[in-house]
Amino acid sequence: MITSKNNINSNSPIAFFDSGVGGLTVLNKVKKILPNENYVYYGDTLHMPYGEKTKEQLIEYSDNIFKLFEDMNCKAVVMACNTTSSVIYEDVKNRYSFKLFPIVQSVSEILSKLPINRLGIFATRATIESNAYQREIAKYNKNKQVFGQHCPNWVHIVEENALKEPKNIEIVRNDLEKMLLNNPEKIVLGCTHYPFLLEILSQFAPKDMFIDPAESFAQKIKDDLEKDGLLNCEKEHYERFFVSSNPQLFQQSAKMFYDVKETPELLTFLNAV
Ligand code: DGL
Repeated sequence: MITSKNNINSNSPIAFFDSGVGGLTVLNKVKKILPNENYVYYGDTLHMPYGEKTKEQLIEYSDNIFKLFEDMNCKAVVMACNTTSSVIYEDVKNRYSFKLFPIVQSVSEILSKLPINRLGIFATRATIESNAYQREIAKYNKNKQVFGQHCPNWVHIVEENALKEPKNIEIVRNDLEKMLLNNPEKIVLGCTHYPFLLEILSQFAPKDMFIDPAESFAQKIKDDLEKDGLLNCEKEHYERFFVSSNPQLFQQSAKMFYDVKETPELLTFLNAV
């Protein structure tokens, strides 16, 4: 049962959404530093991959999810999805009653201050085509060379829980080799699904070459909620997970990053097919 809209207060939940399990890499980091919060997570598995969708589609899917979060009285919504942050954040940022945290815009200042010149970005097609990382980083530092590369199969490999298949390890290795031709000093995992592949990537390049932006993103979320007096002070807390298809696969694929204890609730929207 979804409760109706009330006043937002510090005990209201923090909501996350993504196209599937990817946002769990962010929830995981946030929960480590904010263990006493109530959490709601929506994985839009029916519409995965978001990286292949149009701006109009992404706005439609997100609007349904955001209205659900408003009905659940969420105090903050974490756009734990680089694709939606890159493509639709500017269009939707003032439409809702909660605080909205977009991943790309939130981490770009920190990326701009890295003491390096050549930065690689692995991300979805939509994120790369939007040039959002280049644009946001350039707001703070115009001198960095930023190389974006789209990795077409990676989200599917993670969602299908097929990380151990040799052909998939080969796909990841080939994509990495292509990126390494640019001689990047660091590579940002600019899609929340990609940290699931870190162990594979680090078989072929030093692990500390890869940056998971979720770490600094989580700290920013904490600092901001703290500043606004919005951290939960109650002892009791809860988590709720929703998906738009295949709850069992979600629960299974999630395991590497998050123990989703109960099978997620299936929740779809009539207008989003
Ligand atoms: N994990 C999301 C991102 O960070 C979307 C991946 C997808 O569904 O294409 O971009």
